Amino acid sequence: MTTTATRRDADASCADAVAAAGCDADAVAAVCAVDDDTARCAADVVLARRLADHHAQMVTRLDWLSAALVDAATDGDAAAAHSALRGWVRDELVPHAQEEERTLYPAAAELAEGALLIRSMIAEHGLIRATASAMSDASDPAVAGAYGRALFHIFDDHQWKENELILPLLVESASVSLVEVMSADECGCGHRDH
Ligand SMILES: [Fe+2]
Ligand SMILES: [Fe+2]
Repeated sequence: MTTTATRRDADASCADAVAAAGCDADAVAAVCAVDDDTARCAADVVLARRLADHHAQMVTRLDWLSAALVDAATDGDAAAAHSALRGWVRDELVPHAQEEERTLYPAAAELAEGALLIRSMIAEHGLIRATASAMSDASDPAVAGAYGRALFHIFDDHQWKENELILPLLVESASVSLVEVMSADECGCGHRDH
């Protein structure tokens, strides 16, 4: 049983380990070679930071692509802008959601604090997919652009919940290793930058 005192000590040593490891992959690997809770915690914190960075890159890219489609609908190459956003949805957004549904989401759903949250996140993936399909299928570039901007706002809020609620829940859980959860997925197609 973990006492308050030992938990506080573990948090302090974890913070020290994370500070020492930074975001350097080799440094994290060296920390991971030490088989104890501190190493696991440090590696999880660093990975969570990288996942959040990847999410920020996705949000920025969707903002740019959807805004470009809106602009092109009135003055520009709307077909090219529509094709670029469709391609990003197909190659980045959809694989990313599928990977989360195989990795982060099942792990968080196992935790009492995460069960209801994950049900709502999976439902939101349905909304994201439906909005993305409406964008892709729209024949009027102005309509496609409007769906694209709606997709951006939904996705931006969705990623905030993943960064601020789901990742901290997994990192802080003593029963879950974020590194093991992510490395268990054979595809690795949704978070290729990590
Ligand atoms: Fe993700
Ligand atoms: Fe998601």
